[in-house]
Amino acid sequence: TKIAVFASGSGSNFQAIQEAIERGELNVKVELVVTDKPGAFVVTRAENFSIPVLALSPKEFATKADYETAIIEALRKYDVEWIVLAGYMRLISEVLLTAFPQRIVNIHPSLLPAFPGKDAIGQAMEHGVKITGVTVHFVDEGMDTGPIIAQAAVSVVDGDREATETAIHKEEHVLYTKALQQLLK
Ligand code: GRF
Repeated sequence: TKIAVFASGSGSNFQAIQEAIERGELNVKVELVVTDKPGAFVVTRAENFSIPVLALSPKEFATKADYETAIIEALRKYDVEWIVLAGYMRLISEVLLTAFPQRIVNIHPSLLPAFPGKDAIGQAMEHGVKITGVTVHFVDEGMDTGPIIAQAAVSVVDGDREATETAIHKEEHVLYTKALQQLLK
């Protein structure tokens, strides 16, 4: 299966997916990394794996529809079949959703429907929950609202945001790979 990974930041999930592919655990190919942040570290990671990067700043487009249409053009060129969001900090609109129906997935660092949106780990700590986690889900037009594919629980390390975050990221890397394996075999 040919996939594109969309990311806006560090890209540690992208890296985990690519490493799983190289270990032979995941039978997909990352054809393209798409980012809305040309300076993001994910670009460096993609270059290290010699994977092409499409870095388009939404500011350069008159509308979100134009922006997504430009992305779709590139995805078609690479015959991409599935879109894997990994820290992509934008809502996906009707344009991309229609072009890839039921073929866009996302990972979110909480047990949805708890703590959707930005800084889910901060939200969970602020709320004082003892257990949070990770969710892989299909993407719809909402913010972290689509049908759930897989979840894993992670214990909050009391008062220690950094340790909690490390534990969540570690679980993300395992869960995303597993979920993609099942979905895309
Ligand atoms: C992850 O916590 C993911 O769940 C969230 O954004 C973060 C991306 O991290 N959607 P990275 O860029 O993959 O390191």
